[in-house]
Amino acid sequence: MPKQIHLAAHFPGVNNTTVWSDPEAGSHIEFSSFVKLAQTAERAKFDFFFLAEGLRLREQGGQIYDLDVVGRPDTFTVLAALAAVTTHLGLAGTINSTFNEPYEVARQFASLDHLSDGRAAWNVVTSWDAFTGENFRRGGFLAEQDRYSRATQFLETAKELFASVPAPEDFLRDPAAGTFAHKDDHFDIAGRFNVPRSPQGRPVILQAGDSDAGREFAAATADAIFSRHGTLAEGQAFYADVKGRLPRYGRERDELLVLPAATFVLGDTENEAQEKARIVRRQQVSGATAIKFLEQLWNRDLSSYDPDGPLPSVDPDVSDNHIARGRASVRMHRDPIAVATEWRARAEAEKLSIRELIIEVTGRQNFIGTPDSVATSINELVQADASDGFILVPHVTPGGLDEFAGKVVPLLQERGVFRTDYEGPTLRDHLGLRVPE
Ligand SMILES: Cc1cc2nc3c(=O)[nH]c(=O)nc-3n(C[C@H](O)[C@H](O)[C@H](O)COP(=O)(O)O)c2cc1C
Repeated sequence: MPKQIHLAAHFPGVNNTTVWSDPEAGSHIEFSSFVKLAQTAERAKFDFFFLAEGLRLREQGGQIYDLDVVGRPDTFTVLAALAAVTTHLGLAGTINSTFNEPYEVARQFASLDHLSDGRAAWNVVTSWDAFTGENFRRGGFLAEQDRYSRATQFLETAKELFASVPAPEDFLRDPAAGTFAHKDDHFDIAGRFNVPRSPQGRPVILQAGDSDAGREFAAATADAIFSRHGTLAEGQAFYADVKGRLPRYGRERDELLVLPAATFVLGDTENEAQEKARIVRRQQVSGATAIKFLEQLWNRDLSSYDPDGPLPSVDPDVSDNHIARGRASVRMHRDPIAVATEWRARAEAEKLSIRELIIEVTGRQNFIGTPDSVATSINELVQADASDGFILVPHVTPGGLDEFAGKVVPLLQERGVFRTDYEGPTLRDHLGLRVPE
């Protein structure tokens, strides 16, 4: 029996992957957009719907970064509303463990799990910047290296709360039901939890950080990882790494699923798909976007540069990054001068303009091809243990999943590697995960 593939639908987010300027693009705020994507995913028997989170508007050069979608509604509100218009689809929300509080988040997730009859999932993220923290009056209150220790305590506390009232009747028959007292390095809380145990026992736990501490946190506590490693070699290395950490925590290989983000472009022929992918990349990286990306590495105002011209000969400013705020990519450039030298050499060798270079060096589509070749690639990656499935990120909201659902999913079903119907009502059922004790 081949491995079964897990598929999730990422609501297009606030990165340049999302082409809001496409004539087909709809609202990122109106409820109808969320409903459309979720119901398409459910008709296609996807495991879950996924919402990312951004707690502060990004800025660049002191201004709101408005080349990508700006702003987004609150996760719990959207997922609770979606629970009412779907029946089986899992509902996953990204919720930060650095700026929130366990009591509040545990209540929200336990409630969502009840309202949805067992379909809630929590993607626990820690975030990294003081800029986001200012929204909570905390600024950089926690050093980066302490964030996973808070996440660990946060999750442990929440798990205690999720289990504290085994059944609603316990409020009447057990005077201690829901009582908790939790004191550690990060929390000192006591009280009574007021939501009885939910259908899944607790939400499915996802994790998305990629550092060593993040991977260790996932191995210790998560049910699935949302990763960036969607190609064969990188995927296999990541998969082996995180699965290899499980025995330390007394856990089995199938207790932690690896689900990379993946984008896709479909065509009736391979050539048509490649041509479409080229057009999508140019939509994702306009000239203005290319300059902004370059500024994030150079840490300088480069607005006078021509995106169709050569890269700047001046070196990046290596003082503290001040040009862009609220963006992960900034901290990924650990050695800006080395990266700039590499980019210049590549642009010269391949005769690339700034825009063409940025198109090459920033994220690209994982799956490009006919429905048949895309179904084959997805299945090969899963069978080769590069992943257990994918969190698909369409580039158009909200219709960007339609073609995949209509053309690729039936092929995976024909090949016996993707469900033709849901076997149970809960997200744990779809993911093959046990309900915790
Ligand atoms: C695939 C992926 C998706 C992520 N999505 C989000 C997100 O939606 N919101 C967010 O605040 N952080 C997101 N993060 C980053 C997390 O905030 C993570 O906690 C942060 O990168 C710090 O952890 P690290 O040092 O282990 O990477 C994501 C990370 C990855 C790898």
